[in-house]
Amino acid sequence: MRCEQGQDLPPHVLIMPYPSLGHLNPMLNLAHLFCLSDFHVTFIISDFNHRRLLEHTTVLDAFARYPGFEFRALPDGLPDDHPRAGERTMEIIFSIEKVTVPLFKKMMVHENFLGGAARRRVTCLVTDAMSFAPEFAREHQLPLILFQTGSAAYSWSHFCFPQLLQAQEIPFRGEMDELVKSVSGMEGFLRRRDLPSHYRVDDVNDPILQGVIERLTVKEANIFNTCEDLEGPIVAEILKHVPRIFSIGPIHEQIKSRLTEKKADVSIIKANLWAEDQSCIEWLDAQPPKSVIYVSFGSITLMTREQVLEFWHGLLNSSQRFLWVIRPDSIIGNEGNDQVLEELMESSKEKGLLVEWAPQEKVLNHPAVGGFLTHSGWNSTLESITTGTPMICWPYFADQTINSRLVSEVWKIGLDIKDTCDRLIIENAVRDLMEVRKEEFLKKAKNMAKLVKKSVSKGGSSYTNMDDLLQFIKSLII
Ligand code: UDX
Repeated sequence: MRCEQGQDLPPHVLIMPYPSLGHLNPMLNLAHLFCLSDFHVTFIISDFNHRRLLEHTTVLDAFARYPGFEFRALPDGLPDDHPRAGERTMEIIFSIEKVTVPLFKKMMVHENFLGGAARRRVTCLVTDAMSFAPEFAREHQLPLILFQTGSAAYSWSHFCFPQLLQAQEIPFRGEMDELVKSVSGMEGFLRRRDLPSHYRVDDVNDPILQGVIERLTVKEANIFNTCEDLEGPIVAEILKHVPRIFSIGPIHEQIKSRLTEKKADVSIIKANLWAEDQSCIEWLDAQPPKSVIYVSFGSITLMTREQVLEFWHGLLNSSQRFLWVIRPDSIIGNEGNDQVLEELMESSKEKGLLVEWAPQEKVLNHPAVGGFLTHSGWNSTLESITTGTPMICWPYFADQTINSRLVSEVWKIGLDIKDTCDRLIIENAVRDLMEVRKEEFLKKAKNMAKLVKKSVSKGGSSYTNMDDLLQFIKSLII
């Protein structure tokens, strides 16, 4: 039974993200947007991430200015030294299901769904990739909103799973460059190799593939971190299957736009699990305009030593300046041993700077940065687009393989070097982006940035959709 107390209280949104940085940040931005409309928000976070936020950021203080906002930390069930990255993703998912979800359910029931004198019982649950959510929501008659933190193209490729199966396009047989026919709206450019990496299986009953499809094809209301100018036609396809969609992205710009409008402090509330090395900004200040390629593969990519060395040779041979983020835990087999990094640092001094974690949005906004060599994580892709920065895409897994195809073939603001790791290919791509085709890419990227920023300003499609989302949630109050 839903509680009807506190009719005069604002909506109360319960947000539960998958506990990795790429999910945490857009969900925090969403929470911030709700706070700006005076909604109450309870935000579930893993205690591991909570501790690291306390250690490396002011996120907790920043949200303290909103009395209606509350963090609730729950254990993720993993030991502190678990890498929580790369191929270990399934261990995180299993642990959440085994440890976090039962505690979450208990807390919800025990605390009467977090209602009280000053807060109404939760109005709706917003989650991204939690398989327990649909059943839990149904059982408790709790409206569910799925936040798709990846691209719409990524989601659409999951909704098309039955069609891909029926047409026997999966499992793949033969050429990876063959065009895929069963993902409507993308027939002209989507190759097998561009489908999300979990489609690369021999058996379509593969539990990882099945798990992703189950978690990300929820037909209740969906929020997309995208906009009309980026993925309008794809969202139109999804609308045929999911009638209630709110495309409110890029959400990191939507929040800035709304804060500016309120003349509030626009310094973004951004989660970080590592300390940002600000010295790279000073280094960038000393470089010529658009001369530096920024290199970063996000928060969970793992690389072998061989791959790191191929990139290092490729970058050095390109003769371009570079700023490269190498997380200390990102090189496989390098645990606790910084020798590779030290050697790279020493021999790259003249042209490049290596840091362990950078203030990425500040870096991308810096006038010295002219390109981004990225793993095509959706947040990085959006941050690159909104700063008008052309990309070289080296996708690692999941949605990144499809995001990179959008960059190179649909928006034409960069190059895609997926499924290769070769110093010559890297060198040529860097030269192409930073020298040979520099003006062409910069012009297109700048134009795209303008369109996308317009979509999150008053009157723009994402801005209007955000208003609709707020109204929709208000309408859920009974
Ligand atoms: C993952 C997936 O890869 C992504 O595609 C999915 O949609 C969400 O989860 P991640 O691999 O970490 O996330 O990549 P990305 O989505 O790009 O997020 C990385 C975030 O870390 C970005 O917001 C970026 O600004 C930030 N970052 C990265 C820094 O702040 N500093 C750095 O040095 C590197």
